[in-house]
Amino acid sequence: MNTAIRMHPSDVDLKMAAETLAKGGLVAFPTETVYGLGGNALLPDAAKKIYAAKGRPSDNPLIIHLSNPWEAENYAVTCPLFYKLAVAFMPGPLTVILKKKDCIPFEVTGGLKTVAVRVPSNKTAHKLLSFCKFPVAAPSANLSGKPSPTTVEHVIDDLNGKVDMILNGGACTVGLESTIVSIDGDDLTLLRPGAVTPEMLAPFCAHLTIDVGLERPLHKDEHPLAPGMKYKHYAPNASVILLDGNKENIFAFLKEKQNDPSVGILFEDGILKRLNGIRCISLGSTPNEEAAKLFSALRAFDKLPEIKTIYAPLPSKSGIGLAVYNRLIKAAGFTIQKI
Ligand code: TXA
Ligand code: MG
Repeated sequence: MNTAIRMHPSDVDLKMAAETLAKGGLVAFPTETVYGLGGNALLPDAAKKIYAAKGRPSDNPLIIHLSNPWEAENYAVTCPLFYKLAVAFMPGPLTVILKKKDCIPFEVTGGLKTVAVRVPSNKTAHKLLSFCKFPVAAPSANLSGKPSPTTVEHVIDDLNGKVDMILNGGACTVGLESTIVSIDGDDLTLLRPGAVTPEMLAPFCAHLTIDVGLERPLHKDEHPLAPGMKYKHYAPNASVILLDGNKENIFAFLKEKQNDPSVGILFEDGILKRLNGIRCISLGSTPNEEAAKLFSALRAFDKLPEIKTIYAPLPSKSGIGLAVYNRLIKAAGFTIQKI
């Protein structure tokens, strides 16, 4: 397939992208979290094409994207808590699970009676969605099992030749996928942590439950509430080991390792400034920067085949830290080394 790549998408390009989606084609587009691989959410065949292009199991449900939260009632059963969350966090990096209406095909929801709804704030995404008279189903625009794409180059690497169009929107500002919550009356359950943090959600609900699988490996008879969280995610080719200990001990450990050609170091600037190894990639110096840089860094390590082990920090679980922690601990297959 010949993929049309638009590095500076104009309104005409976005209208063309909306027409492509209307006819059942696939368009990759930027959002503030990660790039999405969009298809018309009312067409079962578009969902099938999305799964085929990503190489993704079709029991893993897709999120539907809208230009405005007030459209949600056309596709899902809304409730007072949904609207409270919509006023506070939409457009933005929050996805809410609601009971689906009949117009949303089971191909989109992986057979579930619920549907995930999100209203992205990215300007290109917003304009594209406002040109569409239908919801756009979009998983992250990566091949299944790869880190989610946070630049157009990542999308081109994974999907060029497999989709009709790719729209550039620069680097994603958040860099980790949206927060996902489900609603039960006045209660919320966090299914995937993201930039809308538990601390931000708690004031809006009676109880906030955090799915146990977000912080520890699940036992054989346990299942995550978001089906996609069960798949191996975000794993680079090298093994990732998270270091837990005080800063000075970690620095001493990394100093020993920094000249080993099979070792990559993925750490915050504070530590990297004191090392002179060449296989070091920075996570920045704040939790928001860590979120924005993580997936790019994991992809960059994949381009260095000599690296067999990547050492990274064990992030704090507060604020957006919980989202960074969740992605890193999965990339590491829950391997933590005490230092
Ligand atoms: O930030 C994001 O959410 C990005 C951008 C493109 O919007 N999208 C994204 O989609 O991350 P995806 O497909 O890579 O992840 C969607 C997650 C999966 O873990 C899936 O299992 C879960 O959402 N999910 C979708 N529908 C669900 C439902 N009805 N019930 C429970 N989990 C659901
Ligand atoms: Mg994904």
